[in-house]
Parts: sequence; structure tokens; C-alpha cells
Amino acid sequence: MTETNRVWRLRKRPVGIIGDDVLSFEHEAIPEPTDGQFSFRLNYLSLDPTNRIWMSDMDQYMPPVELGAAMRGIVCGTVVKSKNPNFAVGDVVSGLGTWADYQIAAPGMINKMGPPSGVSVGDAFGLFAVVGPTAYFGLLDLGDPKPGETVVVSAAAGAVGSIVGQIAKIKNCRAVGLAGSDAKCDWIVKELGFDAAINYKKDDVASALKRACPKGIDVYFDNVGGEILDACFKQMNLQGRIPTCGFISQYNATSEVPGPKNYPMILMQRLKVQGFIVLDYANRYPEAITALGGWLAQGKLKFKVDMQEGLETAVINLRKLYTGENQGKLMIHVA
Ligand SMILES: NC(=O)c1ccc[n+]([C@@H]2O[C@H](COP(=O)([O-])OP(=O)(O)OC[C@H]3O[C@@H](n4cnc5c(N)ncnc54)[C@H](OP(=O)(O)O)[C@@H]3O)[C@@H](O)[C@H]2O)c1
Repeated sequence: MTETNRVWRLRKRPVGIIGDDVLSFEHEAIPEPTDGQFSFRLNYLSLDPTNRIWMSDMDQYMPPVELGAAMRGIVCGTVVKSKNPNFAVGDVVSGLGTWADYQIAAPGMINKMGPPSGVSVGDAFGLFAVVGPTAYFGLLDLGDPKPGETVVVSAAAGAVGSIVGQIAKIKNCRAVGLAGSDAKCDWIVKELGFDAAINYKKDDVASALKRACPKGIDVYFDNVGGEILDACFKQMNLQGRIPTCGFISQYNATSEVPGPKNYPMILMQRLKVQGFIVLDYANRYPEAITALGGWLAQGKLKFKVDMQEGLETAVINLRKLYTGENQGKLMIHVA
């Protein structure tokens, strides 16, 4: 049987949670590289909350995926054909690609990957492609945590959040995480070394924050926006910092989301609230990879991959990010 290329194509803009008819799973011809190009086979597909943003036509930081186009994704693969002198068959590559078994690398979007020794390709891709640098630069550059300060992070048992809390501990801060189940709360405290955890689905967040942060909050690393952001605003210390990393509580919203009612705290407490996209730090990636790889090797940092199987499961698994069914970095092993 001739091998075909399985490709997820965007068919509709999602409304609310991503429906079954938003993408279609096609069987197509395997693309052939022309001069200057190379093609690679997908080994791992990263599933990221931002996939939902890219599918939509909301205001965003890069153009949305066009209807009919292959779905954009953060990918890791192996070069299978090359007409580009800089890439050889067998090279392991990663970057911005598509949800397809075989693909031609878009110019400048796919680079060679050199995992530090002792780390598997899957772990290196999961930690270093997006998650680790996001946590590292967001917390250290924008959050600027000082020893003894209190760092609060939401989606704390997720990919970015779990790293943020551990870096806060490495920097001798008090780390407090919010997560959506008791099991996740136990994991971040008992396994990852957070000082306290709050189950935001069960606890009253405002009073739980007061108990967990007796000296107030110096840095709130915001992964979720919404009511948790509002509750944190109220307990920020003077000159506190809020690195704005994501708004996952709003990605599936079907009506207008009200702004935070405690927004005036930015003025009262002279807060620094700053959004960032990890791509802003592209030229400083080696710094993050060296630091994160070092902490990993020293046993100071733990990284959990939530590995799922099969390109055909991409949509079913992607939905887990918005219901909290993942724990750690959600990825798909393809081939
Ligand atoms: N700025 C950047 O460059 C950048 C880069 C990467 C990621 N991000 C952002 O960082 C955030 C985390 O991304 P990730 O890849 O690490 O995903 P993740 O945390 O591994 O997974 C998402 C988690 O969000 C939580 N969540 C879902 N809906 C929620 C809600 N309504 N309220 C509170 N928590 C909710 C769920 O955990 P619970 O069970 O705890 O609810 C879920 O496990 C996302 O907002 C993402 O867009 C930004």
C-alpha cells in the first residue's frame, strides 16, 4: 500500500470548545522538497493552549491559520529528504510546522535540535522548545523575583506553571500554585517542592491566597486571567510584578468577558503588569536552555511529560488543556 500523508486541516473557526467539525483529518500525497527545501517526518507534536487562539480570528500575535490550511503546530521531527545543504537526512529538527506526518520546512521556522546529553529527544523538545523558556524569561526577566519574596502561579500543575514554581524555589522564593484538583495540588507540593497549593475549583481563592501568602504577593505569574487574576490583584504588594503569560480561562469564551474589577490595584500598588510572547526571547534561548538543563541535571528541576499516542488523537487530546485533564506538558508521539 502506498503511504499517504495524514494532515489536519482547519475547516471552521471554533466557537466555544473545539468541535469535531473544526478540523478535518485528510490523507494526501507526501510532499517533495524542491531546491533549497527539506522535508521531515513528524515525531512529536506539542499541544498548546495557543492552538485554540491560532484557529480563531481573535486579535492575536501572529496571523490566524487560514481556513483550509494545515493546522499550525510546534513540532519535532527527523529530516527525510533534503535539497538544502544545511540539513541532512536524519537530522532532528524542531520549530513551527503543521499537524502532518510529512512536511516541508517553512524557511527559517525549523531548526536543528541538539538535546543536551542525558535528556531524551521527547523531553528536550517538551522542555526547551516553548515551556521552559516561557517560564524562565517570564519569571526571571519580567517577574524579577528576589529571595524571600512570594511568587504565585496559576495553572501550576501544567507545563509552564510547574516550571515557574520550581524556578521560584531555586531563587529562594515562597512558591504558591493554583491548580484544578487535589491530586494536582498534592503533586506540586509533595513532588515539586511548592510551599503551598490552592485548589481553585474547591477553595475560596481570595481567602486561600491570604492564608498561603501571609506577606502578600510580590510576583503573580498569570497563565489564566479571569477571576484568579482579579483575586491576585487584590493581594499584590507595593511594586509587585505580574508577567502576563496567558488567559486560558477566556480562550473558549463565547461572549464578551468582563475586565478585572480590581484593575485599579495597578495604580494603588504601583504594579508592573507586562505581557510577553516567548518568541520575543528567541535570541536568548541558549541562556534558558543552559540554565534549565543544568537544574535538570542537578536534580533541582523536575519535568513531567503527558505523552499521548497518535496524530489522529490530536483534537481529542488538545481539548484536555481547557478542561484540565492534562498534567505536565501535553504532547503526542507520532512516529
Ligand atoms: N506567552 C507565551 O509565550 C506563552 C507560551 C506558552 C504558554 N503560554 C500560556 O501559558 C498558559 C499555560 O500553558 P501550558 O502550555 O503550560 O498549558 P498547561 O498549563 O499545561 O495546560 C493548561 C492548564 O490550564 C488550566 N486551566 C484550563 N482552564 C482553566 C481555567 N478556566 N481557569 C484556570 N485554569 C485553567 C488547566 O489546569 P487546571 O486543572 O489547574 O485547571 C490546564 O491543565 C496558557 O495560558 C498558555 O496560553 C504562553
